[in-house]
Amino acid sequence: MERKKVTIAELNRKKEKGEKITMMTAYDYPTAQFVDQAGIDTILVGDSLGMVMLGYDSTVPVTMEEMLHHCKAVSRGVKGSFIIGDMPFMSYQINAEQAVANAGRFLKEAGCDSVKIEGGTEIAPVVNSIVRAGVPVCGHIGLTPQTATMLSGFKVQAKDAESARKLLKSAKDLEEAGAFMIVMECIPDIVAERITKEVKIPTIGIGAGKHCDGQVLVYHDVVGLFERFTPKFVKQYVQLAPMIREALLHYKREVEEGTFPGPEHTFSMNVEEAGKI
Ligand code: KIV
Repeated sequence: MERKKVTIAELNRKKEKGEKITMMTAYDYPTAQFVDQAGIDTILVGDSLGMVMLGYDSTVPVTMEEMLHHCKAVSRGVKGSFIIGDMPFMSYQINAEQAVANAGRFLKEAGCDSVKIEGGTEIAPVVNSIVRAGVPVCGHIGLTPQTATMLSGFKVQAKDAESARKLLKSAKDLEEAGAFMIVMECIPDIVAERITKEVKIPTIGIGAGKHCDGQVLVYHDVVGLFERFTPKFVKQYVQLAPMIREALLHYKREVEEGTFPGPEHTFSMNVEEAGKI
């Protein structure tokens, strides 16, 4: 059955009814099809693609052109999931005008339904400018990988009362600025629960416990395709990397020993015709 397109109203309805929202990253056409066909509500074309697809050490080097390239491929594979394009580092921080222009490209050129930007209270005015221009914005607070150096590394955030209060204020400021949803990364579950109760927009956790309105994970972590490291909050549902390695070794062996291609992979020609060559 053809999926109906997920809307912001549907995501809000799920929060109101206490139904969990699902989100998964995808960066290419076939993966987007898998995620969409699984009926997952939202697809995040995360700038994590810099690490899992492009081999960078962090998300910082990812460019607008790289993001748009992957978002275009994803949107070609999606029928129902709501697509969020991640704005890369320095595409929204310089000034509101540039942020609005770059955000618009995710919708106009790449077929996304919305954008995500990292930051809390300090970025709320930019969120407001983008939203007023007609582009839905998802916030991202807690551990914000683009500015991990400022946070002294990839660490759990809001571990003391003062920083938890600041994070709550950030969430409220993003809501006030017009964000339709907030991703919360690597924060104690109790802080995520409090924020989820205090804002009306849906919260999506990654390393933020089970009380968020929904969950997101990076596809390559979930299916065991990224082997450089696995954060504590990741659950790996299948390990594809060893299966792929085994398949490739099998193919190499068969080519080298001459058992591939077999007759079933080969085109034949009428013997009489062949004699005239
Ligand atoms: O880039 C990304 O994939 C993300 C998720 C980890 C939330 O921002």
